[in-house]
Amino acid sequence: MNYNMEKDTTNIQAKGFKKSKNGTERKAVIRIKNVIKSFGDNHVLNGFNMVLYEGENLVVMGKSGSGKSVMIKCLVGLMAPDSGYIEVMGKEISTLNRQTLDELRSEIGFLFQGSALYDSMTVRENLEFPMRRHKEKLGFVQDTTPLVMEALENVGLAHTIDLMPEELSGGMKRRVALARTLILKPKIILYDEPTSGLDPITAKEIIELMRSIQRKYGTSSLIITHDVDCARVISERMILLVDGINYAEGTYAELSASRDPKVEAFFKK
Ligand SMILES: Nc1ncnc2c1ncn2[C@@H]1O[C@H](COP(=O)(O)OP(=O)(O)O)[C@@H](O)[C@H]1O
Ligand SMILES: [Mg+2]
Repeated sequence: MNYNMEKDTTNIQAKGFKKSKNGTERKAVIRIKNVIKSFGDNHVLNGFNMVLYEGENLVVMGKSGSGKSVMIKCLVGLMAPDSGYIEVMGKEISTLNRQTLDELRSEIGFLFQGSALYDSMTVRENLEFPMRRHKEKLGFVQDTTPLVMEALENVGLAHTIDLMPEELSGGMKRRVALARTLILKPKIILYDEPTSGLDPITAKEIIELMRSIQRKYGTSSLIITHDVDCARVISERMILLVDGINYAEGTYAELSASRDPKVEAFFKK
């Protein structure tokens, strides 16, 4: 486990590669360095660092209001940090124009907190929405049905294609939202609190789906959560966001065995 005493721990991996267990090098798909973001006197991020490696499941855990959503919004260019460096798939976010940013976003699946579906659209129409928005990526698609069905089959909901969101349970809505995230076959998926507001059994189903998607497509996943169970099941590596910095990093086993009071606080039931 690494404690972030000097703040910029990512410099250790400055080249963006990391040796995995079998000795092969892993490529960084996201790099965040020293990101600072305040809202007036509210200093939310105070030099946050993070690297997401290709194909891994990284969990960033932080308590409510600690800046997890702010961090993820900075990452996709929905919010600009006050300072710091953010790179996604080799491109520095702050230097991109609208079009390039849009192209990059088509490679990133984003499951928003709450995962709102459009209530006035059927499941099919909800899934077609990102396809229309990112036409360039898919090229000309005459019949969207096979793509919509593939995405829905991945979440076990092919039979809901013609239903309206109001006809679905909370867990089903979340799964449809996940299918919508998958439809563009993103290389990176960002999950913001994927299990929040769900009962434990449904939460478990969502976590299982996230794992099966990662295995099937080799997606790199960043999972933002305050759910310890979710972190335990899905994470290969974890970063704890405390006081606006990457306070501690390690595996679930390493962090949950820590005697540091700020780390222990996460694992106390
Ligand atoms: N657009 C905004 N304007 C002002 N303050 C904001 C804005 N977005 C978030 N904040 C503040 O930043 C802090 C972190 O919020 P957030 O990232 O949503 O927390 P969480 O870790 O629960 O996702 C909170 O204090 C929140 O009030
Ligand atoms: Mg949040």
